[in-house]
Amino acid sequence: MKIFIEKNYEEMSKKAAEIFIDAIKEKPNIILGLATGSTPIGLYKELIRAHKEEGLDFSKVTSFNLDEYVGLSPDHPSSYGYYMREELFDHINIPKENAHVPNGKAENLEEYCKEYDEMIEKAGGIDIQLLGVGENGHIAFNEPDESLSIGTNIVKLTDNTIEVNSRFFDSIEEVPKTAISMGIGGILKAKKIVLLANGKKKAPVIKKLLNTDRVTTKFPVSFLLLHPDVTVIVDEEAYNG
Ligand code: GLP
Repeated sequence: MKIFIEKNYEEMSKKAAEIFIDAIKEKPNIILGLATGSTPIGLYKELIRAHKEEGLDFSKVTSFNLDEYVGLSPDHPSSYGYYMREELFDHINIPKENAHVPNGKAENLEEYCKEYDEMIEKAGGIDIQLLGVGENGHIAFNEPDESLSIGTNIVKLTDNTIEVNSRFFDSIEEVPKTAISMGIGGILKAKKIVLLANGKKKAPVIKKLLNTDRVTTKFPVSFLLLHPDVTVIVDEEAYNG
């Protein structure tokens, strides 16, 4: 696990952007695994800047997002589909049909989860997977539990996650109780993983991750220790608390 400690959120975002920009230049038809939440917004801003100012070309890029709330259509302002359009897709030249966010309104969710994994496989697998991390150690929406799913699955959100994520909704009652999430196995299949964390709130989780040599389903992010190419980029607050 490689770790970069950057001065602040802006520097963390720039460091992450360097990795993504270089990778896209090197492989224009790259398959990206993308994440939502507040953490990647700065990185997305840098990618948009590189597209507008330096002509970074996304026309051959394909992307797959990690997760989506069950029951929210991409028109819902709190959905991850909406977020991705606002924060990235609408500002770069990625073809719409290449930019995948799980469908929270799929009729047969179980079936859809399988299809999502098949789509990723058919595309050739994820080259770089971007991750944030929850305060409870979740990655995507893989919540601490007795066991974790390997493939894309429907997960029940913990009370902690519902509370933390209620800031993106008008009220806590509006936060869906379930989500579609790529599984731990799907995440570990990516050729390279880049995990970002910033701010004091993430310090306990980062400290625990950097000081353990054990994996446990009670701390999902620990599974990244099994992957041969993980880069963790944090700001000083997330590192020092
Ligand atoms: C959310 C998302 C995760 C994200 C995490 C951290 O619930 N499902 O993919 O990485 O929680 O979010 P934030 O970046 O806002 O701290």
